[in-house]
Amino acid sequence: MSYSLAGKKVLVTGASSGIGAALAEGFAERGAVVGICARREDRLRDVLERLRAHSPGSRSWVVDLSELDGIESFARRADDELDGIDVLVNNAGVPKRRSVTELSPDVVDAVMAINYSSPVRLTLALLPGLINRGGRIVNISSVAARLGPGTEAAYAASKAALTAWSEAMCVDLADTDVKVHVVNPGIIDTELFRLPDNDEPIADMSMALPVDAIVQPVVEQLDSGTFEIYVPEWFRDVVAGKVADPDAFLQGSIEYLRSRGVAG
Ligand SMILES: NC(=O)c1ccc[n+]([C@@H]2O[C@H](COP(=O)([O-])OP(=O)(O)OC[C@H]3O[C@@H](n4cnc5c(N)ncnc54)[C@H](OP(=O)(O)O)[C@@H]3O)[C@@H](O)[C@H]2O)c1
Repeated sequence: MSYSLAGKKVLVTGASSGIGAALAEGFAERGAVVGICARREDRLRDVLERLRAHSPGSRSWVVDLSELDGIESFARRADDELDGIDVLVNNAGVPKRRSVTELSPDVVDAVMAINYSSPVRLTLALLPGLINRGGRIVNISSVAARLGPGTEAAYAASKAALTAWSEAMCVDLADTDVKVHVVNPGIIDTELFRLPDNDEPIADMSMALPVDAIVQPVVEQLDSGTFEIYVPEWFRDVVAGKVADPDAFLQGSIEYLRSRGVAG
């Protein structure tokens, strides 16, 4: 299987920074017409300027995707203005690094809204067109979906929901030409680790990859049709170890947190 991005209409959510901006630029460099959206207008403008250097038809929309009631009309607008979306990249998301003892129901619901409900609504709104065009759905999940790291209960659960949704959707769409993909970034150096209202990351940031490292693996994933990838790839082995012995894995997680000075 091979998949050419040239001439494809791609919508990347959350592309004002980080992984979304890097993917949008990578797709534009490969000839795609890219639509980007997020809340920060100034940052979107900078990204759009870079996209248009490769792909003049690219465009942007300022939208808050946590406002779930507005998603259907945004989907219609983006689909109309791009003249039919071929590839939907659900990337917009927020972290929540906070121990479960410090979480309120409102915070958990807010994380779920942007990380899970918003991509689900956008997907459902665009699905008929994606089925007609044999399109692609790329859901940017997380290694947290498979590993349930400490201090990230709200975040990990929202990403696990997105991954489970993606798996079931992949099966449901087997008789269509749509392909569903899940991307599990590990530690990619973005603003996600520096946002306010979050505890310090427990991840070892010295291992973080530069943001551009995400582009080629996703391009190859589209090409091969692979359902799930990890970036970096070694997280696949960590997940396999967890599945083989969850008790040992959770004990290891507790010891890791204690070694980082976080109560386990
Ligand atoms: N970096 C990593 O190591 C890592 C690991 C696992 C998963 N991920 C996932 O990768 C995705 C991108 O994150 P990133 O690391 O690139 O961090 P980032 O630079 O903070 O990017 C997050 C993007 O989402 C947008 N966004 C957040 N809330 C939004 C809202 N309510 N409406 C519209 N857009 C919204 C942000 O734009 P505005 O603020 O302008 O709205 C920004 O463009 C996220 O889903 C994240 O969970 C990242």
